[in-house]
Amino acid sequence: MNVTGMLRDDALKGKTIIVTGGGTGLGKSVSRYLLQLGANVTICSRRQTVLDATAKELIDETSGQVLAVACDVRNPVEIENVIARTIEKFGKIDGLLNNSAGNFISPTERLSYKAFDTVVDIVLRGTYYFTLAVGKYWIENKIPGTVLNISTTYATTGSGYVVPSAVAKGGALIMTKSLAAEWGKYGIRLNAIAPGPFPTKGAWDRLFPEPLASMMDPTSRIPLHRVGEHGELANLAAFLLSDYSSYITGESITIDGGEVLMAGEFSHLENVTPEQWDMIEQTVRQANKASKKE
Ligand code: HXC
Ligand code: NAP
Repeated sequence: MNVTGMLRDDALKGKTIIVTGGGTGLGKSVSRYLLQLGANVTICSRRQTVLDATAKELIDETSGQVLAVACDVRNPVEIENVIARTIEKFGKIDGLLNNSAGNFISPTERLSYKAFDTVVDIVLRGTYYFTLAVGKYWIENKIPGTVLNISTTYATTGSGYVVPSAVAKGGALIMTKSLAAEWGKYGIRLNAIAPGPFPTKGAWDRLFPEPLASMMDPTSRIPLHRVGEHGELANLAAFLLSDYSSYITGESITIDGGEVLMAGEFSHLENVTPEQWDMIEQTVRQANKASKKE
């Protein structure tokens, strides 16, 4: 499958968007599409060398304008530096994609306090620090803006073995909805995307390591029987960051091939064969008949 960009050319021309974690994985893929649509993009994360390599690659590919600034999203001073550098280079900021995250699988009782803090601080604190800093700038300067938070499907269902991430993504989702209510009057919209599995090195190394990866196939419990393609998520992200979604705020849109629906009590019956269904049907019909005679 080859995903085609869905927005018209120049749909984001003149817009400037900050993408946290834009040096790798989904953040990099979304940044590429934002640039193709004419946006200026600032990418930030902790490793300047990774950011510089990505910036060069994206500029060569798209001829767009990319600023790469190192920033730990847990540090408000570094966040303010990203904002100042972005305004200095591009004049203003129109959008913020909170995409940075830290995560790994572990039984919760094996975690130290610091391990729990580390994930929550990157995912939740990083998201509200960046949103607060950019939101203040928009409100002070009377600029309408859009925040898009990359969430997860387990932000609403919860999930074992990634509990700090679930706690933090859940908090960030409630912030998305709460601020959408509070900041709508300033023309600020906030939305979220809840992705199912989209292969990236960052997520796969930490969430599907060997020998686990060989033991479980993440596609087996997805109704569409495949993982997501980066272009599919990039299309949704660009739409939610663009003016085409101007009346959508406080929403979380799931993009997971139907994976969360498999939590439905009977959704796992797809391996039952037609012959077994014949037997099951007969048994149920007989039970119905018997109960009518009682
Ligand atoms: C138990 C662990 C651990 C592990 C680290 N720690 N890994 N504890 N099991 N596997 C503990 C450490 O011992 C330490 O606690 C504390 O966590 C902090 O670890 P550091 O390595 O010092 O932290 P840091 O260098 O800041 O790295 C952060 C990180 C790392 C989160 C641990 O994985 C990282 O940099 N991740 C960034 C990218 C990422 O995670 N991408 C995946 C996103 S996927 P002590 O007490 O020992 O000092 C996602 C959703 C996926 O979010 C959904 C898929 C469907
Ligand atoms: P990824 O490539 O590991 O992306 C995470 C990014 O966050 C990295 O670029 C990392 O860069 C940055 N980061 C980590 N800690 C940071 C910090 N303290 N300050 C600033 N940046 C930091 O993984 P990904 O799969 O693309 O994940 C992107 C987003 O999608 C995350 O929010 C994740 O939760 C979400 N998501 C992914 C999937 C999936 O299947 N891939 C599913 C659901 C949700 P540095 O290490 O250089 O800082």
